[in-house]
Amino acid sequence: MKIVVLAGSPKGEMSITLQYVRYIQKKNPAHLFIIIQIGNQIRKLEKDAAAFQAVLDEIRRADAVLWCFPVYFLMVPSPLKRFIELVLERHAEAAFAGKYATALTTSVHFYDHTAHNYIRAISEDMGMQAIPGFSADMEDLLKPAGRAGFISFALNFIRTIAAQAPVEKAFAPVNVSIPEYLSPAIPDVPKTGRRRIVLLTDAGEADVNLRRMTDAFVRFLPNAVDVVNINSLDLKGGCLGCCQCGDNNVCVYHDDLMPLFRDKLMPSDAIVFAGRIRDRYLSARWKMFFDRSFCNGHAPVMMGKQMAWIVSGALRQLPNLRQLLEAEAEMGRMYLAGIVTDEDADSVRITALLRDLATRLLRHVEENTPVQPTFLSVGGHKIFRDLIYELRFVFRADYRFFAKHGMFDYPQKNIRKRLQSGFLSLLMAIPAFRPAFFRMAKSRMLEPYQKIVDQA
Ligand SMILES: Cc1cc2nc3c(=O)[nH]c(=O)nc-3n(C[C@H](O)[C@H](O)[C@H](O)COP(=O)(O)O)c2cc1C
Repeated sequence: MKIVVLAGSPKGEMSITLQYVRYIQKKNPAHLFIIIQIGNQIRKLEKDAAAFQAVLDEIRRADAVLWCFPVYFLMVPSPLKRFIELVLERHAEAAFAGKYATALTTSVHFYDHTAHNYIRAISEDMGMQAIPGFSADMEDLLKPAGRAGFISFALNFIRTIAAQAPVEKAFAPVNVSIPEYLSPAIPDVPKTGRRRIVLLTDAGEADVNLRRMTDAFVRFLPNAVDVVNINSLDLKGGCLGCCQCGDNNVCVYHDDLMPLFRDKLMPSDAIVFAGRIRDRYLSARWKMFFDRSFCNGHAPVMMGKQMAWIVSGALRQLPNLRQLLEAEAEMGRMYLAGIVTDEDADSVRITALLRDLATRLLRHVEENTPVQPTFLSVGGHKIFRDLIYELRFVFRADYRFFAKHGMFDYPQKNIRKRLQSGFLSLLMAIPAFRPAFFRMAKSRMLEPYQKIVDQA
């Protein structure tokens, strides 16, 4: 059996994820794993039609495709995202159609599920039979249980292909037809506000709806807006995964990214993001931007700012993407004032939503509206907290930030709760105490809440 491995790590042969493939190749010498580097070859594949064609030919000859990549910023790394765009732009899905596919990732399990949802849905869009992937913790291969789990996954994949078994689909195709947004003539609102608002967009010439929506939004906002098109930034490339930024939040690239953060985004009061959906995410350019923002580490360096999204495309059909946008905002501790899309057929309604977003965004800035954490950030924080604590020798800047902001909030540090819990555990070991406890528990639990209500 021949399995093409599309390797998405920018670290190329130095990729940890790739070691899982090498391991499984040794364990299954009867099957051939052909590794194709995408993560560090994307420029070549973009420019060199023959090189791109060679990849397609290899896929055409294979029985299956294995997407092999590190989770980057809740998704696939930007080069792999670009590769997927190239396949779709060049209408090359036929090379993939009918093959079996699955994904192998390594990560710290921070939004690995969103990356897997994305790649599985993309595989189905390309006409492949997509089997749920394997999400390894970075260090799983080093542990017997991790290796056993991976071997069982790989065997299941190989057996499914050998049996030509049917695979259930997980995602409906996206209906991409979006109505034209007709913006009305909007008189300029006097820009009396003194807040620093930045709008980041990747709108190109063809992104008419997006440009009209951001124009309308800017006109409605009673505050000057600094508009930055991320396509015009000099970005030398995608994140290299070198983690050298962990020391002091300084990227090894010398380009426009760090000055943009330093001079515009950090001092801003609100950031508005705007983008058009390509396949099931935003553009690879946006992905590159987010991956590169890894130079700010895992700390919510923008916390306290307000933000909003203006999106062109079928976001309502892409709950995975919506979750990504919400999670990024929450993890960044930035209040997401709203997401306006161009999906409504009624342009008047879109205009009203944009006007309302502009008014509310400024109000949220004035009122400093706090983020309302949900599982998206409460769960995410615990993963980051443990990671930074363990890897404080690499992520030294994060460690300083977490320590300064009391973010190493381990429960065992709460002495009062520990004593209370220890004492009650002892009492609960006494059979006669338990019924009394449960008799009183409801009312005793309510007491502090009732006190607050009474005092209100
Ligand atoms: C830019 C960047 C973004 C990352 N984003 C995530 C993430 O969103 N979730 C996660 O669990 N790990 C994330 N990681 C950690 C990598 O997924 C992890 O280190 C992976 O094992 C690297 O694999 P590789 O050596 O094959 O590139 C990120 C790492 C980098 C450098």
